[in-house]
Amino acid sequence: MTQYPVNLDVHPEVESFFDPETNTISHVVMDPNSKSCAVIDSVMDIDYAAGRITYDHSDEIIAYIRKYKLELEWLIETHVHADHLSAAPYIQSKLGGKIGIGDQITVVQETFGKVFNEGTEFQRDGSQFDQLFKDGDSYQIGEMTAFAIHTPGHTPACMVHVIGDATFVGDTLFMPDGGSARADFPGGDAGQLYDSIQKVLALPDEMRLFMCHDYGPEGRDIMWETTVAEEKAENIHVGQGKSREAFIKFREARDATLDVPHLILPSLQVNMRAGELPKTKDGKPVLKVPVNAI
Ligand SMILES: [Fe+2]
Repeated sequence: MTQYPVNLDVHPEVESFFDPETNTISHVVMDPNSKSCAVIDSVMDIDYAAGRITYDHSDEIIAYIRKYKLELEWLIETHVHADHLSAAPYIQSKLGGKIGIGDQITVVQETFGKVFNEGTEFQRDGSQFDQLFKDGDSYQIGEMTAFAIHTPGHTPACMVHVIGDATFVGDTLFMPDGGSARADFPGGDAGQLYDSIQKVLALPDEMRLFMCHDYGPEGRDIMWETTVAEEKAENIHVGQGKSREAFIKFREARDATLDVPHLILPSLQVNMRAGELPKTKDGKPVLKVPVNAI
């Protein structure tokens, strides 16, 4: 197993922004020793029925970064989301920073390039992104060293990002009472997801974990922060040392009952392009609805 450069002596500040439309949590991660920050998993607003894009959620994040005069160095996508559209290019156009995702994005682009019948002008080499991370790759946010862990299973390109004592789990884990993310999208795999979750649970017990989603199970308030110790003890899908076999059986049975996410078609088309809308030959933004393809 890869040895990761964990450093619990670094304590980034984290400000989180919840999007009630998609139950997504975007995070601003700040270096306490400089003005540098990163944004993890931003959200662009869409009224899908009307084909209307707006930026209220990301404008809140931009206002926060400006208010504290922070320098945005990174816009991290933990994966190609299927339930919301990334606002990374919009935020980048206002504040700068590099957009990064896992290098297995090429697999996702290959799969969905076919689903959306994209022409040769759609590159499947990840070149829409500024940085493609491999398992164990490090990068700097001011004086903080961050690193990425490849965590396939939910999607092939999923990465968990570790920044000091704060870990951004993407869609590997949910809060302990939420369990885990589905593993039935094209390229998903419940066994791989189990193995990836074990990589997260192998981090130190006191590591803070920040979620990408929360749905407030049983009517509780929305939450997004827990620890490795709490997940190991209480996670309803993998806690208490649940076996790989039992997890796969449970996950596959449950996934078979889940509806397709409402925004999957626009999300995939935009997010596989690093948050850019697809365009017609004369440059007009347009989204496709492939029939019976998902
Ligand atoms: Fe996801």
